[in-house]
Amino acid sequence: MTASSLSFRLAVVFVIVGIAMGIGMAASQNHAIMPAHAHLNLLGWVSLFLFGIYYERRPALDTSRLALMQVGLWSAGTIVLTVAVAAIHLGYPAADPIAAVASLVVLAAMFLFAYFVFRPAASIAPGRPVRVTPAE
Ligand code: HEM
Repeated sequence: MTASSLSFRLAVVFVIVGIAMGIGMAASQNHAIMPAHAHLNLLGWVSLFLFGIYYERRPALDTSRLALMQVGLWSAGTIVLTVAVAAIHLGYPAADPIAAVASLVVLAAMFLFAYFVFRPAASIAPGRPVRVTPAE
């Protein structure tokens, strides 16, 4: 599987769970897990989908194991961070160190992505530009 298709698939799963959390909060009028909902949607849906677009436009990177690793690391960090943040806001402060470790995992995944973005242009050149035909 390519890094982009893994990103898109996981992003859709995350946003379904994120939306369900949002509907649950609205229906119950209990917004305690709002920070977990926000993190899941922004790390799991928005960021992951953006990674997918970036990878899809760079075919050589898209098929690399390192890019797959970046998506895996980011997703694992997002899941653990979301659960830990929810636990903290539901009254389990013991989850704090777990959230801290997960946040460092997410940071490490972002450093890996930064490496892809900043490394010499020759190795990460985008694929052919998408042709857009204007409507009549
Ligand atoms: C049907 C879908 C959704 C529902 C029902 C929903 C519901 C909610 C609710 C009830 C809150 C708490 C508001 C508060 O306590 O002030 C909230 C907060 C939030 N949601 Fe959603 N949400 C949905 C989708 C999304 C999506 C797709 C994103 C991001 C891409 C998102 C990002 C956020 C953020 C960032 C906050 C925190 C806002 C703040 O700090 O005031 N939500 N949402």
